[in-house]
Parts: sequence; structure tokens; C-alpha cells
Amino acid sequence: MKKGKKRSSIMLSTILVTSGLYFSPVNFGTQVEAAAQTSVNPSIKAFDQKVIARVSAERIYKDIHFLSETIGPRVTGTEGEELAAKFIKERLLSLGYKVETQEFSVPDKMIGHLHTSDHNEVLVNIPSGSEATTIEGVTAKLFNAGLGKVTDFTAEAAGKIALISRGELTFKEKVDNAVAAGAIAVLIYDNINQPGPLNPSIGGNVNVPVGGITKVSGEALLQDVVAPGKTMTLNVTRIANAKSQNIIATRAPKQGKNHDIVHVSAHIDSVPFAAGANDNASGTAVALELANVLKSYPIEKELRFAFVGAEEIGLVGSEYYVSQLSKDEVGRSIANFNMDMVGTSWENATAIYMNTLDGKANIVTDTARATAARIGTPSELVLYQRGSSDHVSFHDAGIPAVNFIRREPGTANLEPYYHTPLDKIEHISLERLKEAGDLVGASLYSLIRK
Ligand code: BES
Ligand code: ZN
Repeated sequence: MKKGKKRSSIMLSTILVTSGLYFSPVNFGTQVEAAAQTSVNPSIKAFDQKVIARVSAERIYKDIHFLSETIGPRVTGTEGEELAAKFIKERLLSLGYKVETQEFSVPDKMIGHLHTSDHNEVLVNIPSGSEATTIEGVTAKLFNAGLGKVTDFTAEAAGKIALISRGELTFKEKVDNAVAAGAIAVLIYDNINQPGPLNPSIGGNVNVPVGGITKVSGEALLQDVVAPGKTMTLNVTRIANAKSQNIIATRAPKQGKNHDIVHVSAHIDSVPFAAGANDNASGTAVALELANVLKSYPIEKELRFAFVGAEEIGLVGSEYYVSQLSKDEVGRSIANFNMDMVGTSWENATAIYMNTLDGKANIVTDTARATAARIGTPSELVLYQRGSSDHVSFHDAGIPAVNFIRREPGTANLEPYYHTPLDKIEHISLERLKEAGDLVGASLYSLIRK
């Protein structure tokens, strides 16, 4: 499949060129001046300064680099996620925190490999519910099954791998029609251009292996593999008994006990094929920096950092974390600051959204607004009703919670790199990391300090 290979390398270089290198100089002076101009009690401003004078965008950036470039994708239950958890744990221990690892099981995961008989690899996503193959995989000719309607199949489909375009029917209907026609595996290709392979969720279990591929791959295979009658091999492995983990760091006031608890959370894991620089090495690295900045200031509330795994498969890590809190601890929990996607350089994402599950203000949004006014946070803060991140688990336990996330004001759009292989360090802004670190850091400190 020479043509297909050429195309994918052209696509890769286009991605690299269009993504460019975004590196903006940081003007820390502006924020310091803005804070100095407000008419707030000078001692409160001095507390803010203790935090924001120490928050280093460069340090945060370096950690994002390590997580997203050195480690790379940190898919739930894989070695990448575990390596990131180890890195975080070691850092927190070196900062002097009491650190705990919470391990939990995650559902089985399917890993796929797809290659042509002339040894070209094609990226493939395997939905849960697909059948696994033997180590050798299934090798067969492709059958062009159009949209996968009943009428798209002929007797020729039997014993072949059905290649089906996304559209009109559900993924499950396409697979069922292919099975009825005697196909031994199904590949579904996207009908829109997205950098990562299609993720065709098929609901329940089916008794053939199923994979999703990009539009570019599907169209290349149609030209190069279906017609000349080459074969393809699809390999599907089920990863069973996989584990994920949360890393919890705690700092309690020296005196007394039963203090109120403030939780900071960020998810460690990423989606497959994405380096997850913004989603969510950004939130992870800002939280690590705040752990550094707040490691020794006098406090009168307990500070807990929850670096959670398995967010991308349905908030599993944060649900587990919250489930392990005692009733008493839940009762003492006054706030959750969740950071997820705080560092994008996408130019339209000029607002910091404060997502709450019920769309209502709470102690976290109020604290952040007051802090932003004092320190002169340049971005607009928008209160918005949205779940989709770990604040949901805290909210469900009755803990006031907010997800801080950068979006386009008005539309609430996320960056175009979201959940794609383009979510890389090139699209991270030092300025915006500093803004998130200052805002959340000074807010936290205003709640926990003596
Ligand atoms: N980083 C996103 C956060 C997010 C928040 C995305 C709001 C979109 C809207 C998060 O990692 C994510 O991708 N969430 C999933 C849902 C989750 C429950 C699996 C999503 O929104 O698809
Ligand atoms: Zn995500």
C-alpha cells in the first residue's frame, strides 16, 4: 500500500506544519501591577503575592513536557498512566507531602493492530464489545461494503473483512449486517477528517473483531487493497485485569484535628493516540506546581491533592477517590478545585470557564471570582453548567466542586485539538498556565491559610 503510506506521511507533515510552535513571552509584571492597584486590604493582597510570586509557568511547562512528550499517551490501565502516576508520587514525596496510592481495577481494554499484506501499519481503535483474535489475528481480503446496508453486501463478502464507511446506520447495525453476510471481521472508516482513528462504539458484544480507522486510511485501503486483492491482518488483544491508580497527597495543619478539607484534583490519564498535553497534563502540572508553592505556608485547613486515573473512561478514578472518603471526611470537605484543560494556546479560548454540574455558583466559584478581582486575572470567568470531568464525582458526594477549563466565550467551544493526536505541547501557552496557577493557587490559599 505504497500510496496509503505516502498519504499518511504527508498528513503527518501537514499536521506538524499547521500546528506550528506557539511560544509566547510571559509578562508577569502586568498581574503584579493589577493586584497593586485594587483597593483590597493590603494584607490579603500580600497573601496573594506570596502565591503568585512563586507560581512558575516554566516549571509547569517542563512537567507538561515530561508527561506528554517523554511519557506520551497515558491511557487508562496502561504503562503510560502508571509511569505518570509514579512521576507524580515521587514529586509529591520530595515536596514533603504524605502520599498514598489508591489502586483499583478498570474494565478490560481492547488493543488492536492492523496491517496490510505489504506491511503497512494502519492505526486502529477497537471498541469494547469487539471479539478478540488469536495472536496471529485474522487475515483476509477486504470487501467494500459501502455504508454497510443489507443491500451493500453480496455473496462475495463471506470470509472477508468488511470495509464500511461511517454514516446513516448505527455502528452496531453495520456490524450485524456484515456478520449476517458472513464477514469475519469489520473495519469502519470515518466519513469526516479527524486526526485520530474512529472510535465506533457498538454497545454490546458482537462475535467478530471490529476496528475503527480514519477516513484517510479507509479511502486509501479502498483504492489500494480492495481492488488488487491484497489481504489485511487485524489483531485484537483483550487486556484483562488492568489496574489504574490515584495518587493522593495530604497536608494537614500542625495543630488540632478534624479540620475542614479542600480538595484539588486533576486527571492523569489521556485518551488513546493523544499525548494529552492540555487534556490533562496541563491540569496535572498546575496542581503539582501548587503542591510545590503551598508546601510550607501556615494553613488552618487540610489540603488534599487527588491526582486521579481513569477519568477518560468515565470518571472512574475520582469516583473511587470519593468513595474511599469516610462520612466524617465528606462532612468536613468544603471545596473541590478540579483543573482539566487549563493550558491551551488556542486563540479563541480566551475565557476560563467554571463548570459546575448544576450551573450554580458555590464557594469555589465565589472564591475564584473574588481572587480574580484582587489579582487582576486577565481572562473573563464564566460560570457554566457542565459535567464531563472529575468535579462531578465530588458534586455527587455533596462537596461544592468546580471544573476550571479554557473555552471560547459565547460558544463554549473547546480547542480543536481536543481528544486528537494534535493535543501536544506545541499548543500549550505559558501565559495561560500562569493565569490558571495564580487564580487557583491564590484562591486555595485564601481558603486554607491562617
Ligand atoms: N478534559 C475533558 C473535559 C471536558 C469537560 C470535555 C467538558 C468536554 C466538556 C474530559 O477529559 C473528557 O474528555 N470528558 C469526557 C467525559 C468523561 C465522563 C469520559 C467527555 O466529555 O467526552
Ligand atoms: Zn478528555
